[in-house]
Amino acid sequence: MNNRYWAFESIRNPSCRKCRLYRTAQVVCLVGVGPRNAKGMVIGEAPGYREEELRKPFAGKSGKLLDRVLLDVGLNRKDVFVTNVVCCRPPNNRTPEPDEISACNEYLMKQIEAVGPKYILALGTPAVQTLTGKKAIKISKVQDSVLPGPNGSQVVTSYHPAYILRKPVY
Ligand code: URA
Repeated sequence: MNNRYWAFESIRNPSCRKCRLYRTAQVVCLVGVGPRNAKGMVIGEAPGYREEELRKPFAGKSGKLLDRVLLDVGLNRKDVFVTNVVCCRPPNNRTPEPDEISACNEYLMKQIEAVGPKYILALGTPAVQTLTGKKAIKISKVQDSVLPGPNGSQVVTSYHPAYILRKPVY
């Protein structure tokens, strides 16, 4: 694995039992992928079916939309590190519970520390809450904002692509 495509196997803990999600996930502790020293990081919610299958965050329909939107603003997916607040797929793709997000925080922070991004694109409410530390914040109230994030990063906020796919605006 080279510097451009780095899945953090050293951070990953496939034996993790810190929350209930290991019982139902097909892949336990699916960490992010991207260049080690990426300036930009994208953080979503949790892996889904396709992500488990390909062992890569944002590999399904949401990922395709993400790739298009990144290209629209001049960014290639290969140049950003992409991960999730929760590393195991929740049953039926439900939103991760607060205790599951807390249990997984160690893995998220290790990835952020290792990559050291300047900018983090937070997709959806769980990512925005986790990265700003503001537990009551909702993406509908802070969409398209720049907020202070971990490790001196700047957090850019957006609706999650899955939400856009469910409620397209033409
Ligand atoms: N949705 C997410 O939040 N993350 C993924 O990896 C895929 C879909």
